[in-house]
Parts: sequence; structure tokens; C-alpha cells
Amino acid sequence: MTPPDIPPLARHVAIIMDGNGRWAKKRLLPRFAGHKAGVETVRKIARAAREMGLEALTLYAFSSENWKRPAEEVSDLMGLLKHFIQADIDEFDANNVRLKIIGHYQALAPELVKLLDEAVARTAGNTGSTLAVALNYGAQDELVRAAQAAAAAGDISTEAIEAHLYTAGMPPLDLIIRTSGEQRLSNFLLWQAAYAELYFTDILWPDFTPKHLEKALEEFAHRNRRYGGL
Ligand code: FPP
Repeated sequence: MTPPDIPPLARHVAIIMDGNGRWAKKRLLPRFAGHKAGVETVRKIARAAREMGLEALTLYAFSSENWKRPAEEVSDLMGLLKHFIQADIDEFDANNVRLKIIGHYQALAPELVKLLDEAVARTAGNTGSTLAVALNYGAQDELVRAAQAAAAAGDISTEAIEAHLYTAGMPPLDLIIRTSGEQRLSNFLLWQAAYAELYFTDILWPDFTPKHLEKALEEFAHRNRRYGGL
């Protein structure tokens, strides 16, 4: 994968990976097939993002609202996540990628929590790029937790709240991509999105390729970010 023609001005990109179910439905396949194909896209995009020079990629894999899905689908998603971590952790580590989990992932199955903690610990010293996976993540919950922690420390300032977000220490969020045509944030990175650019595409997540990522980064590079100034 060659870097795009323009410099990757974005440092931190987040993706709402939507459309797995519709991708499967179009093919008369079970939803599981869509999620499985979605994991293949995660692999390709994580690799491409690294090769394009992004410092951080944050992926919305399981929201705090996703528990409302049928138990079988929740279990399928957890199984895919487990397999993904087990199968790909060597590649991340070998490529100097730091794995980070954002969200209240401690509420997942103890066996999965252990696996995630081990993977995070193993890659904690890696400095090349960060791959953050949002699990049982909800931005409103993140903000409540951060505000509570800031209040407990007696400092409810912008900086103090920011320091208690799950994303503390990551580069500022530049770009949020959402696939599949929906145009909303769905409780994802609400604080961090304050000055992020938003990019919506009709492509369903399993069909999203490194070329599409490149296109989004190129569009980002041409956006005029004023941060409230002139
Ligand atoms: C949205 O598609 C996708 C999800 C709720 C989960 C995203 C999960 C993956 C891509 C796989 C697991 C992730 C990792 C990191 C291993 P949808 O089911 O809402 O699609 P629909 O809106 O078309 O029904």
C-alpha cells in the first residue's frame, strides 16, 4: 500500500463501521456473515491506516447500546472480537502498534477482559501508532465518568475532563468517518468530535477499502478548519 499523493494531514481518524447487516442482507446471508466480512475490513483498514502514516485509528466495534441486539448476535460479535485479537496481536506488536481499548470493556466476559488486558499490556510500549477499539463504549457515559473523576480531584475544567477521557494521551481527533449512509454520531466520541471533520459515505463497511480511506483523507486535507476563528 503506497501512501496517498498528499501528506496525511490527519493524525487521528475514527470510524463508525456501519452496514454489516445490510451487506449480508443484500447477499441473502445471515448477519454473522456481514460481521465476519466486517472484521476482514478492519484488518485491511488498520494496516492501510498504519502504512498511510496515521498516528491513531479509533474503531467503534461495540457500543453500550449494542447489548439491545439479540443475544446470538452479541455473542457472535464477541466471538469475532476474541478471534481478531488472538489472530492479529502478533502483527500489531511486530509493527510497533499500541492496542488500546476505550469504553467500559470490563463489563465484557471475564475471559475476554483478560485477553484484552494482556494484549494491551503486551503492546503498551509500542510507539509507531495506536489502534483504539471502542468496546461497550458510549460517549455520554464516558463524559459522566470523566466529570466525576475531575470533580473528585476538585478541578472541573476543560483540561481536567479531557485528561479523564478514555482517549487521554491520543492525538486530537481530526476526522470521523461513518459508512453506510447514516449521518449521525450515535454517542461516539462526542467531546472529541468538537472540532473533528465529519465524512459520510454510502459504502457499506465490508465494502470499504483502503482506496475509500485514501479518498476520505484527501477530502480532509482540503477542508478548511478554522476552529471557530476566521
Ligand atoms: C454495524 O453494522 C456494525 C457493528 C455494530 C459492529 C462492528 C463490528 C465489526 C466490524 C466486527 C468486530 C470488530 C472488531 C474490531 C473485531 P450493523 O450490524 O449495524 O449493520 P446494519 O446497520 O446494516 O444492520
